Amino acid sequence: MDAQAWEKVDELIDKNQTKTIKDLFAEDKDRAAKFSLEAAGWFLDYSKNRIDEATMKALIKLAEKANLKEEIEKMFTGKKINATEGRAVLHTALRCQDKNVKIKVDGKDVMPGVRKVLDQMAAFSDQVRQGKWKGFAGKRIKNVVNIGIGGSDLGPVMANIALTPYTKRNMKFFFVSNVDSTHMAETLRAVKASETLFIIASKTFTTQETMSNAEAAKAWFIAEAQKAGLKKAAAEAAVAKHFVAVSTAAKEVAAFGIDTKNMFGFWDWVGGRYSLPSAIGLSLMLAIGRNNYKKLLKGYYKMDRHFRTARFSRNMPVILALLGILYVNGYGAESYCVLPYDQYLSRFPAYLQQMDMESNGKCVDKDGNPVTYSTGPIEWGEPGTNGQHSFYQLIHQGTHLIPCDFIGCSKTHNPIGDLHDKLMANLFAQTEALAFGKTAEECAAEGVDKKLIPFKTFEGNKPTNTLLCDQLTPETLGALVALYEHKVFVQGVIWNIYSYDQWGVQLGKVLAKGVLSDLTAKKPSGKHDASTNQLIARYRKAVGR
Ligand code: F6P
Repeated sequence: MDAQAWEKVDELIDKNQTKTIKDLFAEDKDRAAKFSLEAAGWFLDYSKNRIDEATMKALIKLAEKANLKEEIEKMFTGKKINATEGRAVLHTALRCQDKNVKIKVDGKDVMPGVRKVLDQMAAFSDQVRQGKWKGFAGKRIKNVVNIGIGGSDLGPVMANIALTPYTKRNMKFFFVSNVDSTHMAETLRAVKASETLFIIASKTFTTQETMSNAEAAKAWFIAEAQKAGLKKAAAEAAVAKHFVAVSTAAKEVAAFGIDTKNMFGFWDWVGGRYSLPSAIGLSLMLAIGRNNYKKLLKGYYKMDRHFRTARFSRNMPVILALLGILYVNGYGAESYCVLPYDQYLSRFPAYLQQMDMESNGKCVDKDGNPVTYSTGPIEWGEPGTNGQHSFYQLIHQGTHLIPCDFIGCSKTHNPIGDLHDKLMANLFAQTEALAFGKTAEECAAEGVDKKLIPFKTFEGNKPTNTLLCDQLTPETLGALVALYEHKVFVQGVIWNIYSYDQWGVQLGKVLAKGVLSDLTAKKPSGKHDASTNQLIARYRKAVGR
């Protein structure tokens, strides 16, 4: 992070220390309009932040000093900005709607491949949705089970829930991710083999959880097909009708026994947590159909265009990123909360956790030196209004500063009485309460018992952003996801860290292999630390080994 540019931001924080959000509103009657903007179907009101024009200018300088414009171009044009893995970062190519554009990686235009896979997905999903794709018993597919984890699960799950109103209601969608037999067993209990399609979604096709679950599903399927009267060989051959793969690894897919004709490919320049608009979205396309899926990509593209072309002072992802940096580095905020006031976005915070924390949870800069400032914050959240009756207490009156993004949709897909008015009233009221609080004088004027005044006072001055769209649709969902993707990108650029690798997940994976062999071996190696050895011994005893 550019030290000089940051110093200027810091100076302004010091200078404005005595001013609250309430003071800032009192000073400037145009504040709400000034600190709001629209892009790709979303309205952002960021006026309830600890900012004035000078702070925003200083923050923008920080972005300029990080050569953000050039970095954005590098990403969109396929430069290998994921340097520790030697890869381009081109999730934006997956949703590019410009038919004339050429995006080259290693001298080869990636766009024809992107379009080809989209066509393959569309043809397949049409067949399944129209009941033309038949299982071994000649029955149409009613259930789709996506087996994947991390980016091969969180995006499809989140979007499947978010776009429920657009889904084919006579089909059921399941997502198995955890290498916990309960997850698989409860899913298999709910489906019939003859009517079920399994999608094995794994970029690498080597992930322990996914491959173990895929093998378990295959074994279950073959046994079920035999119970239905098929001979063993016929049951095994029926796998081809009930298992498809989404992966970059054709060899591994074939080795698993899936016909590579039924493999939907993507590329190493698509990061797992950015892969929803790739073939990883197959389960979603099966649910919402090719046209709605296309609208989702259009929404992504609109936000991509906005991000690439709007000046920083009117650029929604840039503004969200800069505000995040202000609180992480200027106010020591360790987390931020995402609060969707839309039940359909119930898994959006979980989806963002991987996108943000696997990207920017880094302590080493691009030169391999330890960073001297904080980087990616902890992201968390729950749908409103549930959170209000749980952790909002801490946000309002606790000792931690937790900036929040409130997300709402003006129109509901499910109008029932005045429920939606109440939901939105709660959203707006929360941002009002957090920003303006309630003083001791106000409490006294209301006749609050003197002894209770300290407990009933609200400090206020808690920063929030409010994001509003007309309605949650495939298009607005795509734009929302792209908004946060680009926010994370901008922050990574300013913090000078690599946002597209994830070495931090490796160590545990490797150690788990050694621990597994000690859990199952005749005699454990005893080569771990005393605590781990003790845990292994206790487990072995409990399961009779
Ligand atoms: O363990 C982390 C990770 O590599 C994520 O980045 C990725 O989304 C997930 O595992 C799943 O990987 P794959 O799609 O290769 O199975």
